[in-house]
Order: sequence, then structure tokens, then C-alpha cells
Amino acid sequence: MIISGPTYIDGEIVSRYISIDEGKISSVERALKTTEEIFYWDGVILPSGTDIHVHFRDPGQTHKEDFYTGTRSAACGGITTVADMPNNDPPIDSYGRLKEKFKISSKKACTDYALYGLLSTNTEKMMELTRLFKVYLAGSTGVEKVTDLKDEANTVLDSDGFLAFHCEDEELFKGKGEDLVGYNKERPSLSEVKAIESLATWPEGKKHVCHVSTDAGFKAAKSLGYSVEVTPHHLYFTDEVILGPFGKVNPPLRGDKDHFALTEHFERDEIDVLASDHAPHTESEKMVDFSEAPAGLPGVETMYPLMMNSVAMGETALSTVVDMISTKPSEILGIKKGKIKEGFFADLALFDFREVENIMNERLHSKCGWSPFEGFRAIFPRHVFCRGEFLVKNREFIGSKGEGKNISLL
Ligand code: DOR
Ligand code: ZN
Ligand code: ZN
Repeated sequence: MIISGPTYIDGEIVSRYISIDEGKISSVERALKTTEEIFYWDGVILPSGTDIHVHFRDPGQTHKEDFYTGTRSAACGGITTVADMPNNDPPIDSYGRLKEKFKISSKKACTDYALYGLLSTNTEKMMELTRLFKVYLAGSTGVEKVTDLKDEANTVLDSDGFLAFHCEDEELFKGKGEDLVGYNKERPSLSEVKAIESLATWPEGKKHVCHVSTDAGFKAAKSLGYSVEVTPHHLYFTDEVILGPFGKVNPPLRGDKDHFALTEHFERDEIDVLASDHAPHTESEKMVDFSEAPAGLPGVETMYPLMMNSVAMGETALSTVVDMISTKPSEILGIKKGKIKEGFFADLALFDFREVENIMNERLHSKCGWSPFEGFRAIFPRHVFCRGEFLVKNREFIGSKGEGKNISLL
């Protein structure tokens, strides 16, 4: 297969012919003499996204999402690789549970995937199956705060594994928030900063700070040399947004100052990774008293489209978006994706800057059926390829269950 058009290469858009052979890019050329049929695109051809932080709820809570609906939603938003978190019900904290989850995902995934294990006393055995582990420094949906597991952390980091931390310090939680402003006070900024600082007492290695929500947290993580992840919801919303329980998320939406600072860090290209923290709960689960509502928002399908609109508006550089959604997260996972380059997988998202639309819940593909970004302007990819195969063609999802691969088998 050959795809041709304005192509993103090393921060620039240039006219190229991309030849694809057995799922990989075999050449990227300025001109091509061929009798083969060429798929021409006159928008932009970008590397598709890698989202290293999603919660697809499978197994355990498949009424919220499952591996098929989650990866379908990802694909329609231009994401062709996901890394799924281990706070399932029950949590993925043993070899058996992780093996079972790999079995489920191999049958249902439409995009490629990796699975995190929950750091636990079973870590060493689980490392036969994954090198990604998650540590919750505070309790969140379905998991308790971690107890002392530094030896296990050392085992992961010593063998070039990757540790992602949910950074909040429960000791600093106070009161019971009854709305988003109150929730921001209940799990205050300082609790994030203290938790990030405590990572210095964990073994050396690839430590990653998930969903940084504060300026001080960002600065602490950077100065300690950790990779920093930010979510679209912390970039788009403050605690003043009228979302009520639908905006409840851990860590909470913050005030103006943090929000403004994070946006600046983002626009200056200082953040390593943009990840959705796609955490679907159903509309009826969310539409309850604030204090009873589960924390978490969906977002895997809207992340790249929102950012492409931000590029179209001239607010964000295209290279910032591609770096944070595609190139850097792919490097973190150690996969040959995130660049349009010979030898890399042909994972591509084809956008047209003229196709601006308002996000509508009915057009999204997550099982949860709602989005905090409804009504926002966005540009969805018209075509999406994973390893050279169409997953989305002309805005229609045409992928199938089981086509996605475990990235460690690629
Ligand atoms: O708001 C959150 N929701 N934060 C988390 O850490 C977990 C997530 C979920 O799984 O619902
Ligand atoms: Zn988290
Ligand atoms: Zn999360």
C-alpha cells in the first residue's frame, strides 16, 4: 500500500509517498514511480497516537467499558496503541490475573495494547508478562494506597521497567468536598506535591508521574528528573466548570493559577506526555450526589481531536501535539511507532484542518455514553491506520475484535 500527501516528518509538513509493507513503513520518498494504486490525502498525515494511561474496565466492570469498546473509541480518536491500567475489579496484582487480562484483551482489542500490573508482592512473576507497573500513592477507584513495596519497585526499575505513579498524599486530604471547588480543597495541591517529592525515596530508574495537575507538582517532578504526564481535562477545565459530579476526578480539577501554569508548560513543550486517563463511568453512576459519585472522566477519543483544533486555532504547535501524543509515549513504551519513518509501524492518522466540528456524545464510541467535552470544537481523523490496515475509513470504524496486538509481541 502507498499513501501520499502532506506528511509530518521531524516537525515539518512535507509532501511524501509512504510505502507500506507488512504493516511497516518501507520507504518515505519525495517522488515515486509505481504502477501500484496510491491512496492520496490532501489534509495532513500524522503518526497516530499512543495513550499510555487508560482504564478500559475489562475484566470486572464491563458495563462501563470493555476492551473492544475502549479500543474502538481510541481508534476513532486517532489512537492506535493504549496502555491499560490495573485498577480493575479485582485489581491486576497477580500473575494469574494479568495472564487472564492478556487473554481477554487479545480477543477483544482493535488497537495494539500494553497492560500495566499493579505493583505488589507478585511483581517479579508478573514481569514475565509486562514491564509496566502502576503505583497508587493514594487510594483511588478500586485500589488502596500502596504499602511499602520499594524492593518490588527496585526489581522493576533495575530491569529497565517503567513505574507510573498516581501522586497524592492521603495524609493531607481534608474535609468532604460537596462540589468541584470543595473537592479541590479535599484533595489539595499540596498533597500532589508532597507525593511527588516522596518519589525521591523510591529506587532510581524510569519513574513517571501520571496526570500532574499543579504548577508546583510539575516543577517538583521536572526537577527530580521524572517524566511528566498531563491530561486534557486538566488543560481544559478548572474547578469552576459547570460539570458537577461529572467533573469529579483524581487528582481534582484545580483553580485558575494552576490551570494557567499547566497550559503554559504545555504550550512551551515542557510536558513529556499527554495521556487521556480515560476513566469511564456510566451516566447514571455519575448523576448522583457529588460525594457519592465515582471519580474519573472519559477522554481517549477526544484527546487528539481537541488538540488538533487547538493547532488549527494557532494556540499550540503541531510538533508539541505530535510529540506529546505520539512520539514520546511511543518511546516510553519502547515501540517503533510515533514517527513516519522507514522501519516504523505504519500507524497513521489522517486529519483535515477544515473539518472542525462540535463534539457530540452520540458520535463517540465509548460505552459510557457521555463526554465532559461535549460541544467543544474538535477535528477528528478521517482515516486511521494501525500497522498499515484501516481501522477508521472515512470516519467509519471498520476495525475488528482481536486485530490489536500485545506490543511486546510486535
Ligand atoms: O479519577 C480517577 N479515576 N482517578 C484514578 O486514579 C482512577 C480513575 C478510575 O479508574 O476511575
Ligand atoms: Zn491516577
Ligand atoms: Zn488513571
